[in-house]
Amino acid sequence: MKEKTTKNILITGGAGFIGSHVVRLFVNKYPNYQIFNLDALTYAGNLENLTDIEEKPNYHFIKADINNASEINNLFEKYNFDNVIHLAAESHVDRSITDPLAFVKTNLIGTVNLLNAAKELWRDNLEDKLFYHISTDEVYGTLGETGLFTETTAYAPNSPYSASKASSDHFVRAYGETYDLPYFISNCSNNYGPNQFPEKLIPLFIHNIIQNKPLPVYGDGKYTRDWLYVIDHATAIDLAFHKGKNKQTYNIGGFNEWQNLDLIKLLCELMDKKLGREKSSSTKLITYIKDRPGHDKRYAIDATKIHKELGWKPSVTFEEGLEKTIDWYLENELWLKSVTSGKYQEYYDDQYKK
Ligand code: NAD
Ligand code: TYD
Repeated sequence: MKEKTTKNILITGGAGFIGSHVVRLFVNKYPNYQIFNLDALTYAGNLENLTDIEEKPNYHFIKADINNASEINNLFEKYNFDNVIHLAAESHVDRSITDPLAFVKTNLIGTVNLLNAAKELWRDNLEDKLFYHISTDEVYGTLGETGLFTETTAYAPNSPYSASKASSDHFVRAYGETYDLPYFISNCSNNYGPNQFPEKLIPLFIHNIIQNKPLPVYGDGKYTRDWLYVIDHATAIDLAFHKGKNKQTYNIGGFNEWQNLDLIKLLCELMDKKLGREKSSSTKLITYIKDRPGHDKRYAIDATKIHKELGWKPSVTFEEGLEKTIDWYLENELWLKSVTSGKYQEYYDDQYKK
């Protein structure tokens, strides 16, 4: 794809965890691109994540819901988006178990609404157009003790979250085949880093350690995830957006597998040091609770393709990334406080009462 110097880029979900890092990277690195951050500001969306760039002349915020097809169509017409980087989603597996329909609505129907709007607007000229869909490795289901997910691994989603993301991936691909809509999909492993909502493992445990609250480990804790620092994901998205080939998919991951219990012990050790607490005091907070239904045993990404084709590789080790993450949460007490009051407490009590 030939690079255009000016573009109107729609980034959906830009007030969320990964989206805010992608928006920041694009706004700062490409002053000649107009970046439109479209977000419904659900519980997971927070404009506080973007205060450092909100005054930049190439940054624009639009509060809108991707489930609202007519509003989405109007916005495409009004702003004439050339490209879409689609991150807006319901993203938490546990919430998808409680309320699967919310995931069908936003992740599947919302994505199809965006695809329709793009197809309509780009109907007469597909040059330099791109629909970039950000997805997850969870679409591949679970691995046993060995092996890695590659771009050709068959989809076998096990949770309502991963089933909704798999469906949306299929729709993006189908629009590429049926309507020739230019697209990429990348499937990334578990992200961690600053600004992650404290429902996911790492920020939830950091928050609980600070508060000396129990650390709720699902099942025996012998589940494996492949962790990637969020800024490395944003860098991969930037590269894939500019250099990736139409109708390609890329797996993104850091070859960084950790069994939950080992990760939790490392986190406890680092937190004890940072908080000046006695060695091993945080590990005493570990509490085994009822397992997550349909809990995938192991995720691990083979990121060879993006490494070889686009030259991408992670910039930080896990220990460095984890330390930066802990420091961010300790330095941003007010952010953490504001997102863990009110509704969060209700969610927490309900989720962890069992
Ligand atoms: P997040 O939950 O932190 O943020 C999601 C954002 O989408 C929020 O700002 C929210 O307000 C917005 N949103 C939700 N519903 C919307 C709607 N109907 N209309 C408009 N905006 C809406 O999620 P995240 O962890 O930043 O994930 C971003 C994307 O990356 C998702 O598509 C997710 O599936 C994918 N992904 C996440 C991970 C991960 O580890 N977090 C890994 C791989 C892929
Ligand atoms: P999570 O951060 O929810 O990501 P995902 O389920 O998308 O991989 O969970 C990461 C791992 O941590 C997963 O194996 C579930 C486990 N986990 C717990 O043991 N306790 C918790 O409270 C949470 C949120 C997750």
